[in-house]
Amino acid sequence: MYAYKLDEFAQQAGRLDCAIIVPILNEAANIQPLIEKIGTVLTGYDAEIIFVDDGSTDGSLEILESIAAANRSIRVIRRIGRRGLSSAVVEGFLSTVAPVVAVMDGDLQHDESVLPAMIAALQSGEADLAYGSRYAGGGSVGDWAADRLMISNVATRMAGSVMKTPLSDPMSGFFAIRRELFLDIAPRLSQAGYKILLDIVASHPEPIRVKQVPYKFRTRTAGESKLDSMVVLEYVELLLEKLVGRLVPVKLLMFGAVGLVGTLVHLALLWGALTGLGASFAIAQGSATLGAMTFNFALNNVFTYRDRKLTGWRWVTGWLSFCAACGIGAVANVGIGTLLYTEAWSWWIAGLAGALIGSVWNYAATSWLTWRK
Ligand code: GDD
Ligand code: MN
Repeated sequence: MYAYKLDEFAQQAGRLDCAIIVPILNEAANIQPLIEKIGTVLTGYDAEIIFVDDGSTDGSLEILESIAAANRSIRVIRRIGRRGLSSAVVEGFLSTVAPVVAVMDGDLQHDESVLPAMIAALQSGEADLAYGSRYAGGGSVGDWAADRLMISNVATRMAGSVMKTPLSDPMSGFFAIRRELFLDIAPRLSQAGYKILLDIVASHPEPIRVKQVPYKFRTRTAGESKLDSMVVLEYVELLLEKLVGRLVPVKLLMFGAVGLVGTLVHLALLWGALTGLGASFAIAQGSATLGAMTFNFALNNVFTYRDRKLTGWRWVTGWLSFCAACGIGAVANVGIGTLLYTEAWSWWIAGLAGALIGSVWNYAATSWLTWRK
């Protein structure tokens, strides 16, 4: 009975050829035109469009939901309390069963007319991944200022070190991939930041059969770009994770970098208290330690753990737990250092080993205690 009904339903609905995932953050003016453009180029395909919204506040969501309510082929995924282009796209992927899945921006900058060529390349078996390239013959980045062009070139060159499959435009957010291949790669994705195509290609152990499709990047006419200064940081984090992430957590490296800066802050405070305030060494060292700890906490909070940033009263309790954990780290540091020193290791090895073990302890303890997910 149910089987019969399901069969009937499938016949009515037709077979899904492909899904187009569109990440959305405040694109109210672009949604309707985008759907119309995609609809025009994909006639003949049974396609669904999946919008993934991260809490738009400009009415995008209302527009999307009213369109989706009237049309089965348009779906909306709402995420609450989350931000991030890559992870939004991943959730779109996980929500569809279409054998071919494409990803494009929701601001009309990607030229939808190349979608059929990308989809056809996968359907015919010519490639497992097809991507829109602004740097292939016939493609272009449009009217970018010289500095943006230069940044993009440097970023593209840096990407070369992590890719198993060379791409002419690894920064592209416009591509299509076989769903099964994506699902194979998905558990290894970093999902950090903006660059999901690069993440995919860098996370697959073997080269992928790719096809590039040139296109001209359009200028944005409505809404604003969501790129901010954090993008650069997230990009470097993604690259680091792909390069050394298996050996050391990238957050440990960032924590360590903050610690090095914190040491300089400590020395500056100590010097200030001794010479400026004429404090005794014990008082000066004590205040410098507290000051440096607070500095480390605040910087880690906005840099290393910006994805779990503490605010309001949780900033205060976080600061307390951070100081407590680092206090224990300091005891371990001194204890281990002293032990090694009495075992006749040279002073600097003993000192360095103590500091290193103390820092790793601080990282582990505060990632659990202070910035627990
Ligand atoms: N769900 C969600 N969450 N969507 C987001 C987020 C987010 O945190 N940030 C941005 N978006 C959406 C935007 O609404 C837009 O539809 C798309 O992602 C691209 O964002 P833009 O702010 O327009 O970025 P861009 O134009 O500078 O860069 C994009 O285009 C490049 C060229 O292909 C990015 O997609 C790049 O990855 C891409 O290379
Ligand atoms: Mn854009």
